[in-house]
Amino acid sequence: MPVPFADLQLQYQNIKSEIDSAISAVIRDNAFIRGSYVDAFEREFAAAVDVKHCISCANGTDALYLAMAALKVQPGDEVITTAHSWISTSAMITHAGATVVFCDTDGATFTIDPAAIEAAITPRTVGIIPVHLYGQPADMDAIMAIASRHKLWVIEDCAQAHLARYKGQQVGTFGAAATYSFYPGKNLGAMGDAGAVVTNDDTLTGHMTMLARHGGLVKHQHWIEGINSRLDGMQAAILSAKLPHLPDWTSARQRAAQVYDAGLNQIEDVVVPEVATDRSHVYHLYTIQHPRRDALAAHLRNNGVQTAINYPTALPFLAAYRRLGHRPEQFPNAYRQQGMILSLPMFAEITADQQRTVIDLVRRFASQ
Ligand SMILES: Cc1ncc(COP(=O)(O)O)c(C=O)c1O
Repeated sequence: MPVPFADLQLQYQNIKSEIDSAISAVIRDNAFIRGSYVDAFEREFAAAVDVKHCISCANGTDALYLAMAALKVQPGDEVITTAHSWISTSAMITHAGATVVFCDTDGATFTIDPAAIEAAITPRTVGIIPVHLYGQPADMDAIMAIASRHKLWVIEDCAQAHLARYKGQQVGTFGAAATYSFYPGKNLGAMGDAGAVVTNDDTLTGHMTMLARHGGLVKHQHWIEGINSRLDGMQAAILSAKLPHLPDWTSARQRAAQVYDAGLNQIEDVVVPEVATDRSHVYHLYTIQHPRRDALAAHLRNNGVQTAINYPTALPFLAAYRRLGHRPEQFPNAYRQQGMILSLPMFAEITADQQRTVIDLVRRFASQ
């Protein structure tokens, strides 16, 4: 029996009537762009993640751009981020007009190493973008302490970490702003592209809202030069229908992670994800490490199990950053792990049988 990497169709079938009636309502009300469904989702999501404001936008990439543009990033400014993330995190630093400065990860949690941040700070540094990668919070106490010492802003990239907590506090509530993606496969996913920035800051909220809507809030009054980055009504209504399920889906992912941990952690050469104490991991991805990663992935694929590599090349080593001339020894953890990481099937509806199939195949690979 094949095991998919994720099963969006199954999620839809389980809540089909809720999704279908949400979509019908938007069509009935002609509420395609902005309108009451978007306003409602913004209110509901802000409440769900314990912040005052949610500014919805077209995707999680734009969310990063909007946050940095509102923080008035300038040419010559340096923004520090992790070597291990999806390219949106670093690309938007460049598009906002600043210079990307990469830091290595801590070697255990796949998140940015605070000691590396401290070492990367220069007089031109203006901000830090930690990423709660795979669903595990970065070390926010250490990061916020560095930021406050050096008067830097922090934008948390929460694209993979809906409802994750650090010492009991929700991610996305530590920095000046935090960005979310609702890409379909995310823990809270739309049925197309969607994203948001959240913040407790009223001034930033006004600025980001205008930026995302052609630079104004009233038709034909453009106070600044903005972009068109709107969440559409259909996606908002779908997200509102899914949001009440998110706590249960998150718990289901956490239970599935425990099953994997118990089944995999005694198998030779397999390193299961390490979760730092006081952090709750929401397992957008369940990523193991294995020295023969490519052979293991092929073995799983040949036996019907889909896997993914998130990500095969750490950011500093992508062609897009060749101009920076980075070397592996500058980012030893990210470099070593890019060759060992393998994300296993993980979704709220994964069954015990499916997990057993994956675990048995990994065990069989080890004994070969
Ligand atoms: C860590 C991270 N940041 C940013 C993004 C960008 O989100 P989106 O795909 O919605 O633009 C993603 C999603 O792929 C992500 O995983």
